[in-house]
Formats: sequence, C-alpha cells, structure tokens
Amino acid sequence: MTSAANSSAKASTEQRYGHVAVIFHWLIALFIIGLLIIGKFMTSLDENSPVRFVLTQWHKSFGLTVLALSVLRIIWRLTHRPPAEPSSIALWQQRSASVAHWLLYALMFAMPITGWIMVSASPLNIDTVLFDVITIPHLPPFTELANREAIAAAFHEYHELASHALIVLLLVHSGAALKHHFIDKDTTLLRMSPDTASHSFKRHIVGLVVIILGVAGGLFFYNNIDRHSALLAAGESEVSFIALVSGSETPGIFIDSVVTATIDTDTPSNSTIVAVVKTGTLTSDNAQVEGSLPDTDWFDSEGFPEARFESTDISANDDGTLAVVGSLTIKETTTQVSFPMSLSDEEGVQVARGEFVIDRKEYNIGMQSQSGDGTVGFDVTVKFRFDIGVDSAN
Ligand code: HEM
Repeated sequence: MTSAANSSAKASTEQRYGHVAVIFHWLIALFIIGLLIIGKFMTSLDENSPVRFVLTQWHKSFGLTVLALSVLRIIWRLTHRPPAEPSSIALWQQRSASVAHWLLYALMFAMPITGWIMVSASPLNIDTVLFDVITIPHLPPFTELANREAIAAAFHEYHELASHALIVLLLVHSGAALKHHFIDKDTTLLRMSPDTASHSFKRHIVGLVVIILGVAGGLFFYNNIDRHSALLAAGESEVSFIALVSGSETPGIFIDSVVTATIDTDTPSNSTIVAVVKTGTLTSDNAQVEGSLPDTDWFDSEGFPEARFESTDISANDDGTLAVVGSLTIKETTTQVSFPMSLSDEEGVQVARGEFVIDRKEYNIGMQSQSGDGTVGFDVTVKFRFDIGVDSAN
C-alpha cells in the first residue's frame, strides 16, 4: 500500500469519513443509545432499589466516558475536514443536516454535563467512581451552594429535557440517513459505514478492541487485587421511634422513609448515609399518637413534610460497629446526633441497624400541648434499619 493510500485510511476523503471519525461515531452512538435506555429504565425503579443504585453508578461511568470521547471527537472533527456533501443533495437539506449535526454535538455535551452537575449538587453526596476505580470529583461550585437541593432538582429536569430533545434529534437523524439510503439511494449512510473491506480499518478495530480489553482487564485486576473495600448500597429501609406515652412505651413507624447509603467497610470515612423520612406517613398502635403527630404542634407535616439525617463523619468503633455522626433536621431545627451502627448478615441479607435518643424539646415537638414530660416523655428513641443490597466490589 502506498503512503498516500495509507493516510487516506485515517482522514476523511471526498467520498467517505475516515476510520477514526467512523469509529467515534458508532462508539458514541452505541453508548448514548444504551445510556438513554438505562437512564429511563433506572429512573422507573423504586428509589430504594439496589438495582437502581448500581445502574446509576454504571450510568455515571459510561456518561462521563461519552463526555471524554466527545471531547476527543470534537477535536478530531475540527482538525479533520469531513467529506463534502454529495452534490445531488439539495442545499436546504445540506444546511438542515449541518444544523442537526451541531445540535447533536451540543447535546452530546449537555447530557453528561447536566448529569455531572446534578450529582455534584445533590445533597446525597454520592461519589462518582469511574467504573468503580477512579473517583471523579464533584464540580466544586455546586457542592458549596446553599440551595444545592433545588439546583440538583433543576439539573435533573434539564438532564431529562435534554434527553427528550436528544431522542427526537436521533430519530430525525437516523430517519434522514435511512431515507437517503433506501429512497434516494445515495451514499450518505455508506460514507459513515465501517469500511469492512479495508485492511487498515480492520487494523483500527483490532487496535481499539485491544485497548478496550486492556483497560477493562486493568480495571478488573485493580478492582479485585488491590482493593477489598465494599461499597454498599441501601435497599429496603425502616425508621421508627419509641416514645413514653402515659408511662408506656409507644412505638410508631414512618411508612415512607428513604435511606441512601454508601458504606465502605475498609475505609469507613468514605461512607455516607442520607435518610429522608416523610413525617406525614406515621403509623402507630396508639390512634391518638397517630392522629396528632402530623399536627402543627408536633411534626407539622404540612409545613415540614420531611425530616432528614445526613452523615458528616463515619468511622470504625473497636467493637466492629461504625460510629456515625451527622446532622438531623426536624422542622426548622438541625442538631448533631451520633450513634453506633451495626452491620450484620440477617438470613443472607446485609442489614444496618442503629438507634439514638433525641430530646423533643430541642426540635419544638409538642411543646404547646405537652410542654412537660408527665404525659409524653421528652426523650424519644429513634430506630432505623436498612438493607444493604449490593456489594459492588464483588
Ligand atoms: C450522553 C450521556 C448521558 C445520557 C444520554 C444520559 C441519559 C439519561 C436519561 C435518559 C436519564 C433518565 C431521565 C429521566 O427520565 O428522569 C438519566 C438519568 C440520570 N443521569 Fe444521565 N445521561 C448521560 C450522562 C450522565 C452523566 C455523565 C451523569 C453523572 C455523572 C448522569 C447522571 C444521571 C443520574 C444521577 C440520573 C438519575 C437521576 C435519578 O435517579 O432520578 N448522566 N440520564
């Protein structure tokens, strides 16, 4: 093969895109279609589902891979001129195709960037660990904002909106390519197709497969040999309490509680726990307790529908439990609480359990109707348990 033929194997020619451009196109297309399907599927699952947690971690890894590939692709595109449009195609069609292509490039960046901002702003503070190996930092300005929760929700919305725009554009884009191929019978689709007859294209594919297998093998090796820590995700959860009412211990359970946790047993300080309890979903054997607790004087469930715990520090205790410190917000009051948390195997399921005592005076709970502790004690024991569904290190 001559050197001229060799270089035309890489760069675009008058008739077709170069091999690198073709590989970028189909690799990114494959990842994006997978991300759209998995994104829609995982968000349809229960918020507490361990499967949702694991899929979201893979989604983040592949999404950031798309971002990196898109940066490389745009550099390649700007430095390698694409082939001229076939002259048989009307000028208006060439212009609309060009607009659609740049919109697709914009969305290729908008999708991962909105996703990255969403997870950076999220108060859940879950690390993005690329393929469970490299921790990708959160974007700094978004972790510092006072209104992180609202920003995270807004970027979730943008991420979803951008995904809908992307789906529409992808349908138009592939519809147009198929029309060119089957109806106009021109070379539009063939120009971006793998040049399977070319030896140098096959070499590029073999090279790519070797790189992918090498990287995957390296990650697998690193993950299994070098690290033993378990990153664990929360599944089913239950938050309950016991209060002393008229001298007898009265339990209650919040039906709707969501615990999201990553527990790293080797390096406990990497762990985080966030628990959100819907205060209006309380049930108790004591009908009076159940009826009155959502009222303004007690949890004020209309004004403050959620109580929230966020861990700030998790370390190991000598007895094998974890020492958890965090902030507990009930109504407008946030205080620091700390408690030991045990992890145990219960019938094949890893379960985390803990309990701590709060003073209802501190949170202004029931202080108008029960300002003394004669009928309802000041101390209330809060108990929780959550299933740890997944050990992603295995
Ligand atoms: C081209 C890249 C990406 C595509 C096509 C994509 C697509 C999607 C889609 C379709 C959804 C479902 C939206 C909904 O209906 O609510 C979704 C959700 C999500 N994406 Fe992406 N995404 C991409 C990149 C990223 C990146 C880089 C991150 C983070 C680093 C990310 C984080 C998330 C998260 C956390 C959710 C779920 C939010 C929840 O659980 O409610 N995405 N994504």
